[in-house]
Amino acid sequence: MTAASTPVVAGTRRELHDLLGKRDEGARVGLVPTMGALHAGHAALMADARRRLTPADRLVTSIFVNPLQFAPGEDLDRYPRTFDADLRTCAEQGVDIVFAPSVEEVYPGGDPLVTVSPGRLGDVLEGAVRPTHFRGVLTVVAKLFGLVRPDVAVFGEKDYQQLVLIRRMAIDLCLGVEVVGVPTVREADGLALSSRNAYLDPEARVAAHALSTSLRAAVEDAALGRTRALAAARAVLKECAGVLVDYLEITDPDLGEAPTSGEARVLVAARVGTTRLIDNMPLMLGTEKDPGGS
Ligand code: PAF
Repeated sequence: MTAASTPVVAGTRRELHDLLGKRDEGARVGLVPTMGALHAGHAALMADARRRLTPADRLVTSIFVNPLQFAPGEDLDRYPRTFDADLRTCAEQGVDIVFAPSVEEVYPGGDPLVTVSPGRLGDVLEGAVRPTHFRGVLTVVAKLFGLVRPDVAVFGEKDYQQLVLIRRMAIDLCLGVEVVGVPTVREADGLALSSRNAYLDPEARVAAHALSTSLRAAVEDAALGRTRALAAARAVLKECAGVLVDYLEITDPDLGEAPTSGEARVLVAARVGTTRLIDNMPLMLGTEKDPGGS
């Protein structure tokens, strides 16, 4: 096995443009957008992107904590920043270029006048709790697509609503990029990896595993129909005093109304101590049985 070589870091649009201009003719570009504080979940995104590319292609990871997707009072200032460790993760995963711009480089004129609206999908689930969040996410991702011009971009299923919206943005705005979703990486007890897990104190860390346990309960009872699956998940969350649920819902895979049977998604968001966590899982719904019937 050859030693991982350190990616080249581009701090400005100009540097990024020059580096991407140097690639072989016909070489493709993959992009993994991140906010840094990289963990094994991000490494899986980079590994997936690398597998889709040849050695002649270029894999870019962006590291940018995007102020536009944080509302006042959220954790923008305390969001973990671990650049040196992030660079090592990128090197291990065969990333060629790390794009790590400043806020001024991404938003030279301050907040942009024109932004990307998530439409009605931006008002439900996470959007109902964080009304400006997806406008900020879609706007920065559209900017990154414009700067990097990737053929393929890889995102985690952990932020499922974000993934669905980015996919729709790429289709609805004809951005010419293939958007790929990668399954969530979990701790041994089921907790979904997240940069925000760093905020959990030992007590909250124990309570946090109720989220994935509740989703698994829904998956296990999914064959009995949506109502029973939701009840199973709710029963788990009710047991856990330290977990304040924002929402628990079953939708179709595109976040529309749940089907009466077939492929669906169960999603949960909750506050655990001072930390807000989200998680989701795919499930296969069976048709609901009439409780009075045989
Ligand atoms: O998922 C994230 O880390 C961010 O929302 C993203 C996609 C990098 C946009 O800032």
